Amino acid sequence: MDGESVMEPVPLLRGKRILLGVTGGIAVYKVCTLASHLTQMGAEVDVVMTEAATRFVSPLTFEALTGRPVYVDMWRTGGAGLPTHIAHVGLAHAADLLVVAPATANTMAKLAGGLADNLLSTLALAATCPVLLAPAMDAGMWSHPATQANVATLRARGVHFAGPVRGRMASGLEGEGRMMEPEEILGHIRRVLGRNGPLAGRNVVVTAGPTREFLDPVRFISNPSSGKQGFALAQAALDRGAEVTLITGPVSLTAPVGARRVDVITVQQMLDAVLEATADADALLMAAAVGDYRPATVSQHKIKKTADLTLRLERTPDILAAVARRRAEGGFPRVVVGFAAESQDLLDNARAKLEAKGLDLIVANDITAADAGFAAETNRVVLLDREGGVEELPLMSKAAVAEAVLDRVTRLLIGTE
Ligand code: CTP
Repeated sequence: MDGESVMEPVPLLRGKRILLGVTGGIAVYKVCTLASHLTQMGAEVDVVMTEAATRFVSPLTFEALTGRPVYVDMWRTGGAGLPTHIAHVGLAHAADLLVVAPATANTMAKLAGGLADNLLSTLALAATCPVLLAPAMDAGMWSHPATQANVATLRARGVHFAGPVRGRMASGLEGEGRMMEPEEILGHIRRVLGRNGPLAGRNVVVTAGPTREFLDPVRFISNPSSGKQGFALAQAALDRGAEVTLITGPVSLTAPVGARRVDVITVQQMLDAVLEATADADALLMAAAVGDYRPATVSQHKIKKTADLTLRLERTPDILAAVARRRAEGGFPRVVVGFAAESQDLLDNARAKLEAKGLDLIVANDITAADAGFAAETNRVVLLDREGGVEELPLMSKAAVAEAVLDRVTRLLIGTE
């Protein structure tokens, strides 16, 4: 995710009430991005700022980004002529999640001690929803025993933390106390909101990206897979509360917050990782673009240039076939989804793969389209199932494809019980 990009709606966030407490630290400017992203993704974001926070950014900024009023003063007259903290206590009751970002040492101390001396601490005391804190402070303040004791108290009470991380501080010094980046805080928000979702307690294994087969130390055979579709599947599974193992070939993507990432390079490494991770998994989503061939011999040294070079290739193991063999003996996983990248006879080839690889569902796409498949932002897929069902989805983002696939996986898993 990139800070400037437009966020698309996310089912998990649609209509969710997020009470965003903003306290006074220089990291406030990054929380503007967080408020904007959450709003674009479909959440209703009510911002409560402390007096100190307004010294860094004006409430108007958050009002413009969220399209909703921003609350600061506890004593100003609110709705029905009541002081704001009474008029708006409903905000605390209606919230699905209270996020405090940045959370200063001072506000964390108040929350730990149960103080209610400004609008944010008052609403925090009245809120019954989960709480997520993104601390930001000088490294010395973070490591101070008083702060650490407050963190321990809050953790014991079930409060979630996103960061802080190590890095450059406002003082110019390096240390632990820097607020996590908005994209990562967003991942933590999704994790907390999704934790009781329909796949809670389920293990989902996702593969993503290309594989590489080396012919010598500096050359390899690979394909242009970016890993985007697989990473989107991992996020959609996390949003439904699943425990996710993301087995990925070499890609330049950051794994979604909460996923257990396993990096592999070759098909053999991916096969080993998949067999290990799926030994007790509920579902396998095989989105990786697995290479079908590898050099029959690998040179230990760089192959010297000659007039031409003939390569003899051999087949790589078929990962889905290995999983199917284990399932035939009654082993896991219960649901297996394959992907079919085709350049002709899409439906016939996909149906044949579904049968041959013993899949429950296959996601087929025509890789000749410029707006779908390898490395594109969007995808146009057809879902074929074991019962003969065919669902053609329109051109959509890879995240939306992932949502559609996870809806089917959820139905398949819950339907098998
Ligand atoms: N796959 C696999 N192991 C391989 C090759 C592919 O598990 N060695 C998986 C892919 O991850 C995908 C599905 O099989 O989910 C179909 O991949 P695809 O490349 O479309 O099909 P192939 O089986 O390689 O068949 P072909 O190349 O002949 O179309």
